[in-house]
Amino acid sequence: MSSLLLNRTTFGDTKNKGNVLSEQEANELFTTWVLNAKLQLHMKQVGHLMKCWAAEQEHLGEEDQWRWELAGLLHDADWDQWPAQHCRKIIEELETRDIDPEIIRAIASHGPLHFGVQPETRMDKMLYAFDELSGLVHAYSLMRPAGYEGMDLKGVKKRLKEKSFAANVSRDDINDACARAGLQQDELIMFIIAHQPAVQ
Ligand SMILES: [Fe+2]
Ligand SMILES: [Fe+2]
Repeated sequence: MSSLLLNRTTFGDTKNKGNVLSEQEANELFTTWVLNAKLQLHMKQVGHLMKCWAAEQEHLGEEDQWRWELAGLLHDADWDQWPAQHCRKIIEELETRDIDPEIIRAIASHGPLHFGVQPETRMDKMLYAFDELSGLVHAYSLMRPAGYEGMDLKGVKKRLKEKSFAANVSRDDINDACARAGLQQDELIMFIIAHQPAVQ
C-alpha cells in the first residue's frame, strides 16, 4: 500500500482564519466528490456530531459550529474517488480556496496513524474521536431491528469488544483518540447514541 503520509505540519494560511465554504459551496463539493451513498452518510453523521459537540460541549456560537461541521462533513471527501490521495487532495483543495487553516488542520489530523499529523486542537481531537466510533455505532444500528431506537451504551460496548464486528473499525484508533481527547469512551458513545439518529 502506498503511503498516505502527508509529511507536513502546517496547513493553510493564518490570514484565512474564519474563512469558510458557504452551505451551498460545501454541498456542491460534497456531491461532486463523493458519489458513494454510504460514505456520504458517514461524513454527514460525523459533521453533525461535530456541530452538536461544538454547540453543547464547547459552547461555541453558530459560526464556529459551522466550522466544526465543515471539518466533519468534508474529512473523507477524497476517499471515494481518489483513495490513493486520501486527505492530501481535499486539503489542497481547501488551501486553494483559502479556507480557515484550523479546518484544514483538523482534516489533516483525522488519522494520525495514516497521515502522520498529530491532532492538537480541540477540533482536531474531536474529529479523530468521532470518526471511527461513529462508524461502529452506525454499523450496530444496521443490525438491530429497531435501528437506533432503544440502543444503549452496554450494547455498543459489547460490539466494540467483539473484534469480528465491524472489523474495519480500528479499535486502536478509538482508544488512542479517546485518550488524546481526554474523554471517557462511555461519554463519547452516549453522545453519539443521542445525536447520530438525527442523520440517517
Ligand atoms: Fe478518512
Ligand atoms: Fe471518516
